Amino acid sequence: MTESQQDPVSESQIAVHWREEEYIYPPESFVQQANAADPAIFDRFDEKNFPDCFVEYAEMLSWDKKWDTVLDASNPPFWKWFTGGRLNASYNCVDRHLADKANKAALIWVPEPESAEPVAITYRDLYHRVNEFAALLRDFAGLKAGDRVTLHMPMVAELPVVMLACARLGVVHSEVFGGFSGNACGTRIADSGSRVLITMDGYYRSGTLVDHKVKADEALAEAAKQGQEVDKVLVWRRHAGEYASQTPMVTGRDFFVDEVIAQYRGQIVDPVPLPSEAPLFLMYTSGTTGRPKGAQHSTGGYLSYVTGTSRYYQDIHPEDTYWCMADIGWITGHSYIVYGPLSLGTTTVIYEGTPNYPDAGRPWRIAERLGVNIFHTSPTAIRMLRKVGPDEPAKYDYHFKHMTTVGEPIEPEVWRWYHKTVGKGEAVIVDTWWQTETGGFLGSSLPALKPMKPGSCGPAVIGIFPAIYDETGEEVPDGKAGNICIRNPWPGIMQTIWGQPERFISVYYEKYNKDPDSKDWHDWPYFAGDGAVRAPDGYYRILGRVDDVINVAGHRLGTKEIESAALTVPEVAEAAAVPVIDDIRGRAVEVYVSLKPGYEANQEMVDKVTRSVEVEIGKIARPKNVWIVQDMPKTRSGKIMRRVIAAVSNFTDTGDVTTLANPEIVDQIRHEVQSAKVARGDVPRELTETERAEIQSFGKEE
Ligand code: WT7
Repeated sequence: MTESQQDPVSESQIAVHWREEEYIYPPESFVQQANAADPAIFDRFDEKNFPDCFVEYAEMLSWDKKWDTVLDASNPPFWKWFTGGRLNASYNCVDRHLADKANKAALIWVPEPESAEPVAITYRDLYHRVNEFAALLRDFAGLKAGDRVTLHMPMVAELPVVMLACARLGVVHSEVFGGFSGNACGTRIADSGSRVLITMDGYYRSGTLVDHKVKADEALAEAAKQGQEVDKVLVWRRHAGEYASQTPMVTGRDFFVDEVIAQYRGQIVDPVPLPSEAPLFLMYTSGTTGRPKGAQHSTGGYLSYVTGTSRYYQDIHPEDTYWCMADIGWITGHSYIVYGPLSLGTTTVIYEGTPNYPDAGRPWRIAERLGVNIFHTSPTAIRMLRKVGPDEPAKYDYHFKHMTTVGEPIEPEVWRWYHKTVGKGEAVIVDTWWQTETGGFLGSSLPALKPMKPGSCGPAVIGIFPAIYDETGEEVPDGKAGNICIRNPWPGIMQTIWGQPERFISVYYEKYNKDPDSKDWHDWPYFAGDGAVRAPDGYYRILGRVDDVINVAGHRLGTKEIESAALTVPEVAEAAAVPVIDDIRGRAVEVYVSLKPGYEANQEMVDKVTRSVEVEIGKIARPKNVWIVQDMPKTRSGKIMRRVIAAVSNFTDTGDVTTLANPEIVDQIRHEVQSAKVARGDVPRELTETERAEIQSFGKEE
């Protein structure tokens, strides 16, 4: 029996113990105004109407040339949507709104320092800024359709300007989350083959002006090491005319955007009509190997999908003020801060800083001040705001009609606080389940038409037809856990993994494809990598990843990436990263290392390992604890048993370890780690059934 075949029993037992929560219905005031309030929509998106149902989304866009074919599925699993069609994403998000919304705010940027006023950027302003920057990209940076460019930008209004300027030319942007390290950025520059990096000198985070440009120098060094030279670094300045970084600008390579842009003032660049399947952007994400995966998203399919789901599931109307607190550096920000909302001509809010700066009332002051009526965030942020300011929302006069939770499972108790206290009982909630790879939502209730059920993401989104399979490819009955898959292609699905088409097939399609030569899409279910249970009412409950991925604060971290970082410390012989249950961030990371002979375990070594993770990946991956152990628990074939280590870290049962090559090490590690944790007062609460199953089966794939 291989590792992956073990343990399905423990997961199905969860389902038996899972308590179904009650339904909560949307307020009548919401239903009255909702974009999707007619149940006929379910029939329009019924499987019998697939794939033509998605024409409804494509028709929400302006096309230079209409498509000939809705879905070209002739080369599975490389689906092509709306082929023969031509369009431009920048035109759809900007130009087409000028006729009736030129003076309406497209973006409202909220700087972190509260002394600074929010900045409104109208659609007309946005149009000029995007055109000028597109002229700079074309004429100064020499970029053209199909070239990739890496962005490493924080949460500032200039970020969507840059993205839309790229889209105007057909340049493929690859935005790397600003919190990632220089090395992580460099790896992505190299993988995407970017010759240009666009960054910023600094930004505000928790009250300090962070030096960000320093990471550009590290990134270029790393990219060069990996064989990719960068000719130009375009540096925006957080405060025009001042420089927030300690690192020198490199002559001939680094340029301040505010200086260069002067010569492009007033220039207009015609949006390039691109084929529907032209790539719009890359978004890197983690998987089971160290090399990150660049999910490649298309222009026509992706933009149709995020526009349609933003209209029906986010219930965005042009007159709304919409605020998604995620970072644009993640897929949530691309789809549901920038492309979806702007395509619909609404006002989208961008907040630079941390939600609890300077205090836990900040988000609610922003909502009150700007009249935000749609709010979107993650369980981690909700847990944190609930902990630090449980009574804050009541102090502010704002009213949400709609709220979203995304990125991790949300505990029913936390959901209820979100509903009652943040939403004041007036807002409908959608719990949206999806992934970097999927472009947009896969699971969610349709807010006016299906009731909410705390802890479940809801039914599948319209046009999405899931199935839950066991390891052998049999569908599991309702109430039992298995691997959730999507049986059909949809317009938002990534096109491929940049430069790794074989990996695209092997990671997402190989597991449940029975005939690799089949040209029928029915034979190619998409394997999402999540465990899930379907209730008899068709609502899904997502149990979490079934691979070596740890979801920290809604952000996906690959254990292999963390382990490779630890292994850059010369004294480290072996490393294993495991999740520990964390009351705020959902999961935190703990790293176990063993040292090469002759080295001593001490605090200095712990600090070195911690620093290596920060340098290679970024602070978000910083381990909560680093444990230096004598040896790792291993199978007879020498594989590290991450689930045994994870059980130790979480004070849960390690299961039968007698078949290990070195069973005696388990007791030793348990004693060392757990007594140290007890001494630090760092003992996790008792785990739920679901959490225990996740921990005890962690790292299954090996
Ligand atoms: C993984 C994808 C989707 C944008 C943010 C994360 C988990 C996502 C939910 C949810 C339970 C969720 C899954 C998924 N996840 N949304 N509503 N309930 N789990 O994107 O970094 O690609 O991570 O996040 O495990 O596979 P990502």
